[in-house]
Amino acid sequence: MIIGKPFRTVEEIQRRVRELAEKISSDYAGREILAVGILKGSFMFFADIVRLIQVPMNIDFLVASSYIRTKTTGDVKIHADVREAIEGKHVVLIEDIVDTGLTMKYLKELLMKRNPASLKVCAFLDKRANRKVNLQVDYVGYVIPDHFVVGYGLDYENRYRNLPYIAIFKKDSAEGIQA
Ligand code: IMP
Ligand code: MG
Repeated sequence: MIIGKPFRTVEEIQRRVRELAEKISSDYAGREILAVGILKGSFMFFADIVRLIQVPMNIDFLVASSYIRTKTTGDVKIHADVREAIEGKHVVLIEDIVDTGLTMKYLKELLMKRNPASLKVCAFLDKRANRKVNLQVDYVGYVIPDHFVVGYGLDYENRYRNLPYIAIFKKDSAEGIQA
């Protein structure tokens, strides 16, 4: 497998994750949070950030999908719901990337119906220019232009999630992916 050069390196990712964790730790000082990882994409970011957040927390996951190849369908499927009660909790949704915002808007509305004490969104990547809905993303690692990216949990047809860095995916490359 030929892998393109990093668009965000391992070192950049580590530094930015640490900064986000510090911000969340200070914003939630004295409170307990429920960190909900949106799978599959957030598994690596989730594991990295929860280790660095300094407030008490409970963790849970929600498995959702809305993507077919490189286009969002807007039709979000919940494959596995959170098991923890949401009511009265300070919930932080941890997501790999927000693109059109359709997935996150749907998930936020779904969880808001369960009366959390608060609900915030932390996304490692934000393709803000593509937004189709009005959505507040409270913590953002990097705002990126409209490239399809893989690695650090992000996939193209379920591949490349295990890359430790983020690369730009170009399907027309004969050798695989290139940066
Ligand atoms: P949205 O509903 O358009 O905001 O899409 C959000 C979901 O699409 C994310 O949770 C990702 O799983 C996926 N996605 C969006 N952009 C990319 C990308 O560049 N690479 C890989 N997955 C992406
Ligand atoms: Mg995702």
